[in-house]
Amino acid sequence: MKFIAGNWKMNGTRNALKNMVGALKNVDTENTIILCVPYTMLCIDSGGVALGAQDVSVHEKGAYTGEVSATMIAETGAKYVIVGHSERRQYHEETNSIVRQKAVMALNAGLTPIICVGETMEEKQAGKTMSIIESGVRESVPNDAGHNIIVAYEPRWAIGAGLTPTEAEIAEAHKLIADTLIGMGLTEIPVLYGASVKADNAADIMSIPNVDGVLVGGASLKSDDFIPIITSVK
Ligand code: PGA
Repeated sequence: MKFIAGNWKMNGTRNALKNMVGALKNVDTENTIILCVPYTMLCIDSGGVALGAQDVSVHEKGAYTGEVSATMIAETGAKYVIVGHSERRQYHEETNSIVRQKAVMALNAGLTPIICVGETMEEKQAGKTMSIIESGVRESVPNDAGHNIIVAYEPRWAIGAGLTPTEAEIAEAHKLIADTLIGMGLTEIPVLYGASVKADNAADIMSIPNVDGVLVGGASLKSDDFIPIITSVK
């Protein structure tokens, strides 16, 4: 069983999500399917498809206009929330420390945080890929998270760019993440790969050791693109 998570970012409509859920009902798979969608779509009846949010406040409640708390997300029936996605890190200056606080809020509300880590092109070119991934995991993942978390390796330079690292690079990154988590006392944590996953590379990527699934952006928006990714892994 693999995790196939879609990240709709700021795309879609409630009707588009209903259509996607309808199309997914006919898919015969043992994989776990998660759709992380804008807050406004979280309340729809999603059948067997688990829904998630894409961000969460570091605060529990109060005078924080525009923020949405983990408890509020959980109240919709959502089970997951992405934290520390590269677009949050890039456009909202989210640091590892903020990401960790968000992950803690999610855990306290019974949500599974999908914690993203990954290097920028600048960091890659400076030879810092491994150190950025390791510090990303050490500083963003709460040590006492237990089993209720997912980590996603998302090389930031490859997101939405049609680029992917080599299989050897993905293998090296995922081994480092798995080893770092074990070093933190966190075992059996699924580690997903995300960035430019498509139907034609999903099966190869998910056959790499320590890759427990994928986090899919653009190719999760249309069922014609998303379903072949789900069915590419038996
Ligand atoms: P992409 O996005 O699949 O469009 O590259 C991945 C992500 O941002 O999670």
